[in-house]
Amino acid sequence: MFVLGIETSCDETAAAVVEGDGRVLSHAVLSQIAEHLPYGGIVPEIAARAHLANLDRLVARAMADAGIGFSDLGGVAATAGPGLIGGVIVGLMTAKAIAAVHKIPLMAVNHLEGHALTARLTDKVAFPYLLLLISGGHCQILAAEGVGRYRRLGTTLDDAAGEAFDKAAKMLGLGYPGGPAIARAALSGDPKRFAFPRPLKGRPGCDFSFSGLKTAVRLAAESLPPGPLAEKDIADIAASFQAAMVDAIADRVARAAEIFCRDYPGGEALVVAGGVAANAALRARLVQTATKSHLSLIAPPPALCTDNAIMIAWAGIERLKLGLSDSLDFKARPRWPLDPTAPKAANAR
Ligand code: KG4
Ligand code: ZN
Repeated sequence: MFVLGIETSCDETAAAVVEGDGRVLSHAVLSQIAEHLPYGGIVPEIAARAHLANLDRLVARAMADAGIGFSDLGGVAATAGPGLIGGVIVGLMTAKAIAAVHKIPLMAVNHLEGHALTARLTDKVAFPYLLLLISGGHCQILAAEGVGRYRRLGTTLDDAAGEAFDKAAKMLGLGYPGGPAIARAALSGDPKRFAFPRPLKGRPGCDFSFSGLKTAVRLAAESLPPGPLAEKDIADIAASFQAAMVDAIADRVARAAEIFCRDYPGGEALVVAGGVAANAALRARLVQTATKSHLSLIAPPPALCTDNAIMIAWAGIERLKLGLSDSLDFKARPRWPLDPTAPKAANAR
């Protein structure tokens, strides 16, 4: 069984063909980073237009690279939310057209579930597992109980972790996306030079907050002599910021791990997913956090942690195997929490 996956919820246009057993046949990706670069962040209207201009070509390339025809597909999966709604509509409409013309099932995939299930593709992780989902748009910690079944243990009260990396990088003149730029600059920096706060560390619950840390970075940059920041100062702020992020995230995860191990005694893994999971310092720290709770850390390869269409095809396969597909009138959703009991806060993505 082959499934075509389509991802258009943010600034990456992507199409992939994946086999039912998890074999990846093709992946065609087009990053829009260059188009958004002059604005220092993603511009939704530019994103939607770029998806529209490129998706057909990418789907054709993914199919050609896989060496199969549309009639060979067992289904087509597309991100149906949450995300920038213009882009989501482009991807979902394309998938609906393919499903209608070739009379194959449509899987309207929750983008977050795509991230959530990636570790089952790469490492065959069994349910239940503890899932840290950290990217530019999302920041939450969940117990993954099964396909479509997630219990949220914590979320961010303000920014997503990737957003904090991106904003800090912007303040340091490091450009977008900020995570990889901060990680690179931090390599030659002193993580102890600036004593940045570790928001919510030691507090009850598993929620995250990064806005205080972001303010501290701004104040540190402003405290230095006027004019462009010296390379050493940038490296030291980046290293101190990254150390604070890692520390704050690890504290929250440790608390969630306690709850998870208490409520799901059969659970064995801490899975980390989303773009920020590509951060090497964070991965190294989370290995320790997981080990303390007798969990193993599963971090899919960085290319599968950032947005991609392979994870969407795979989430489609997981649903198709359970007989779950969606009707052609499924509406794109700008907001779509994985946990249906999640509070309806604006930042609860
Ligand atoms: O999952 P993703 O590709 O897109 C969203 O769904 O948001 O995540 C992108 C985010 C960006 O904020 C980027 O700065 C961050 O992931 N990121 C990183 C690293 N690589 C990407 N953050 C920290 N360290 C990294 N190495
Ligand atoms: Zn994502």
